[in-house]
Amino acid sequence: MSLFQIKSVDSIVAESEGGGQKLARVLGSFDVTMIGIGAIVGAGIFAMVGAAAVKGNAGPSLIISLIITAIACGFCALCYAELAAMVPIAGSAYTYTYATMGELVAWIIGWDLILEYAIGNVAVAISWSGYFNDLIKSLTGLEIPVWLRLDYHTFMLAGNDINAVPHIFGIPVVVNLLAVSVTVLITWVLVQGIKESTRFNSLMVGVKLLVLAIFVGFGFYYFKVENWTPFAPGGWKGIQAGAAYIFFAYIGFDAVSTVAEETKDPRRNMPIGIIGSLAICTVIYILVAVVLTGMMPFNELKLKIAEPLVAGLEYNHASRWLIGLVSLGAVVATTAVLLVFQMGQPRIFFSMSRDGLLPKYFARVHPVHKTPHVTTIWTGIFVGVFSAFFSLDTMAELCNIGTLFAFVLVCVGVIILRHKEPDRPRPFRAPGGIFTPLLGIGFCLYLMMGLEFMTWMRFVAWLAAGLVIYFMYGYKNSRLRANSL
Ligand code: ALA
Repeated sequence: MSLFQIKSVDSIVAESEGGGQKLARVLGSFDVTMIGIGAIVGAGIFAMVGAAAVKGNAGPSLIISLIITAIACGFCALCYAELAAMVPIAGSAYTYTYATMGELVAWIIGWDLILEYAIGNVAVAISWSGYFNDLIKSLTGLEIPVWLRLDYHTFMLAGNDINAVPHIFGIPVVVNLLAVSVTVLITWVLVQGIKESTRFNSLMVGVKLLVLAIFVGFGFYYFKVENWTPFAPGGWKGIQAGAAYIFFAYIGFDAVSTVAEETKDPRRNMPIGIIGSLAICTVIYILVAVVLTGMMPFNELKLKIAEPLVAGLEYNHASRWLIGLVSLGAVVATTAVLLVFQMGQPRIFFSMSRDGLLPKYFARVHPVHKTPHVTTIWTGIFVGVFSAFFSLDTMAELCNIGTLFAFVLVCVGVIILRHKEPDRPRPFRAPGGIFTPLLGIGFCLYLMMGLEFMTWMRFVAWLAAGLVIYFMYGYKNSRLRANSL
């Protein structure tokens, strides 16, 4: 039974308010909405739209994929908002699950969130490297050697000559060193203790929104309705696969809930931040997809699948400064996502370590900088190694399946808490009764079904590895279990 022992909501809230270190409540509704947009707009809209349109075979019907995904995320956002307003604690989905489904499921979700945050960042770092190269190219006319900015698989897929790259002991060297470099840089900045500068974040949000607005403006100018025929080359299957890919673009609204402990009046501001950022991004995404798919026959995206916005502009012979500007917007956008996610991952490890599910070593705080440097550096190593050798879409798909699974559990959590504690005050109650969480679950499962078989296999292997670690360590060292024995 004790595998499913729960941590009561009262004790979770009391722990965060009692003795130890408390975080300052400084963020208002505007700040949290900006944090949401900061975390959401990144590699998804600047890069994954290419894979969704071509590999998912959604073509122009990507617009419908985006709408379906927005609806799915909308139901989940309402559930997140209900829980975040009721249990305004930094651990987000991990904490909610501890309070509703018990320790084993909480461990699973904590382990699963590594897929969202760390693997998600691998995908973002890879996308960063592609756009950084475009930026350098548009500024100087020079390119970074292709074997230093791609993984082996993508390198071969793009038809590059493997004999032309340097060899060490007869092994060809194809490593995305550019993605590794940005990861090292971000890790270093975070260890130094970047103040969660909302002003810096807002500035980056401003830049990316402006760049997307400019792209949409020019995109309408290049728009040709013929490019929308055929509109849905892959039929419903293509739309579903496209939605499963493009889900990546929406991930991040849930990250708002991780700053609940630093938010003023979280009962009001959490729902505003979570739902507001999702709504704003949905409108922007649909506009971008409308113009992108109208700018060129979608098949042309194949040639530059990871930088589709640049592909659209190049196809229309747009000027170099415009391509440079879009590349700059992408670099800024992905940098912001990298920062927010690389900040989120250590916090989750930190909470798990505080609960005894991971060694205490992970909860160490730097003596001078006061940052969780151990978990930050380990996250950096993990992200760096994976981004050197794996491809963007493999990593993004793995991130998607992990995040969708977390969303399902959050929706289940809402149902359980409503049943078990119907009278607990709910400053924000998701409208629609039980249908909202049920629809959230249904939509997420539908999107998960759109992902490839290999992604499912990787996901199952990841969860199995997590279970082994739990029974070898967390089960024996859990503080909750120790206290209840
Ligand atoms: N939604 C985030 C991005 O697109 C993960 O980069």
